Amino acid sequence: IFVPVLTIDGPSGSGKGTISRLVAQRLGWHYLDSGALYRAVGVAAGWADLDLADPAALVRCAFDTRIGFREQAGELRVLVNEVDATDELRTETAGAAASAIAAIPEVRAALKDRQRAFRQLPGLVADGRDMGTVIFPDAPFKVFLTASAEERAERRYKQLKDKGVSVTLDGLLREILARDARDAQRAVAPLRPAIDAVRIDTTGLGIDAVVEQVLALLPAH
Ligand code: C5P
Repeated sequence: IFVPVLTIDGPSGSGKGTISRLVAQRLGWHYLDSGALYRAVGVAAGWADLDLADPAALVRCAFDTRIGFREQAGELRVLVNEVDATDELRTETAGAAASAIAAIPEVRAALKDRQRAFRQLPGLVADGRDMGTVIFPDAPFKVFLTASAEERAERRYKQLKDKGVSVTLDGLLREILARDARDAQRAVAPLRPAIDAVRIDTTGLGIDAVVEQVLALLPAH
């Protein structure tokens, strides 16, 4: 049986996490947050005091770490080795660790089958960087979300301010530009749109407008 997949790739701050979850809800499809897997391995490596410069240890960690998702009070909680690590996964430290280990080809390979296992009926919305290019190249629906670096910095600024974290807009913009360059230039699975992906620029668009544009790509539902 063919299980449909909608891949939603894009840089951080493009809104793909929010959009993917909402679209999955509307369709009644499963949802894969692939970034959470990389973050979970990064956090587990930290707990085990592994050296981020020791690829063999990190690859073993990627195979051995148990990662579970659980819906609780309308929120997706992530369990790392049975411990609820949802809040820790969202920190900049976890993001930086994820981005470092994500550059190791064997770590990416170790997570491949786990990501593909999410492809189950009635369908899957897969959110990440290489969903349409590497993990689900045969997906019938592919989206690449973008937004100007300035807008992504502003979205992030608002999020952090709401959480009481003090940062400057300028600093965030510089970080985002640096991360974009790193993600686009890395040798393995660089961030780039699949040739058959529909690009949606979300600059100046509200969440609902983007959700509708994505849903419009699928046959009537
Ligand atoms: O999307 P999120 O910010 O949670 O991803 C964290 C990091 O994991 C990214 O900066 C990226 O380096 C890596 N990642 C990846 N491939 C994916 C998802 C995330 O390389 N499919």
